[in-house]
Amino acid sequence: MTSEMRSRIIGTGKYQAQRILSNADLEKLVDTSDEWIRERTGIRERRLATEDVASSDMAAHALQEALQMAGKQPNDLDMIICGTVTPDRMLPATAAYVQKKIGASNHCASFDLSAACAGFIYGLSAADAYIKSGKAKTVAVIGTELLSRFMDWGDRNTCILFGDGAGAVVLTADTADRGILSTHQYTNAELTELLKIPAGGSLQPASPETVAANQHCIQMEGREVFRYAVRYLSSAAMTAVETNGKTPDDVNLVVAHQANLRILEGVSQRVKIPMERFVLNLEYYGNTSSASIPIALDEANRAGRIREDDILLMLALGGGISWGSALIKW
Ligand code: UT7
Repeated sequence: MTSEMRSRIIGTGKYQAQRILSNADLEKLVDTSDEWIRERTGIRERRLATEDVASSDMAAHALQEALQMAGKQPNDLDMIICGTVTPDRMLPATAAYVQKKIGASNHCASFDLSAACAGFIYGLSAADAYIKSGKAKTVAVIGTELLSRFMDWGDRNTCILFGDGAGAVVLTADTADRGILSTHQYTNAELTELLKIPAGGSLQPASPETVAANQHCIQMEGREVFRYAVRYLSSAAMTAVETNGKTPDDVNLVVAHQANLRILEGVSQRVKIPMERFVLNLEYYGNTSSASIPIALDEANRAGRIREDDILLMLALGGGISWGSALIKW
């Protein structure tokens, strides 16, 4: 019997930003403390890119690592999907710069995808649909974020949380009984104002005034986002496992968006998957938005923490508010 066509992750990679910004460093910038940040978020330090680096540089590095692990060449790629809210430019797509930097050929279709911190899950879902429909065979999905360039370093509500970095995966069509089992995506568009970069787009074009008021920087109503995160991620987790006739017990590893340790503890309690099964690295990176899942995945993968046939649950939520899940048999 021929099995169903699936999209399988065959390579992972990451870019680790060079500079480390500790909680102690932040104490010098805003009225905060190492103790508050650790207790309320679980973050000790975050990594920031150096001035010569753009989102596409980090993405290209992560993708090159993923291609190498996959045993694929840049020209094998049919598509590059780049999740980012911090593109190199408004136009063209960051994915086009990535294509150029890795030297992929013109038959590769490269585009960006805007779903904030859920960008990687949305990208994975898009890649899965292209692969299953037969429109693409080998696809790269990247999350790359240079959030430090969009940070108000005087706003303690946001500047303590975020970091820079990129992660990538290479997927290919496979008839083996392994790969992406399901993806689910949602957006609650009543909540668009909770997390945003107000200016720099068509609604509020960049002007000397918007820049002076730091309106090109991230603004977030953290407490509200937190509340929705625990509820929506728990519900998405249950949908993911139940859709596949599984229970939370069947999940070997949770690779979730790394926004706040307390959010993940809330999800862990609600869905009854112990914290030992969660990949955690937010302590060292902070919140890297769409990059956080592929970075955590790559680190778990290279550390030998994922075995063949393991069930992986991916979860993310961010601006939109958009969220989603993916269940994968490795
Ligand atoms: O990646 C996209 C999704 N994003 C998230 O998932 C982030 C979700 N939100 C969060 O992670 C948390 O809400 C935060 C870490 C942002 C904030 O933690 P919280 O426990 O929700 O704190 P809060 O906003 O309720 O603030 C509690 C207190 C406030 O003081 P008062 O009003 O009680 O006097 C804040 O002014 O803590 C104060 N505060 C701070 N104190 C020291 C807020 N930020 C800081 C800070 N240092 N950096």
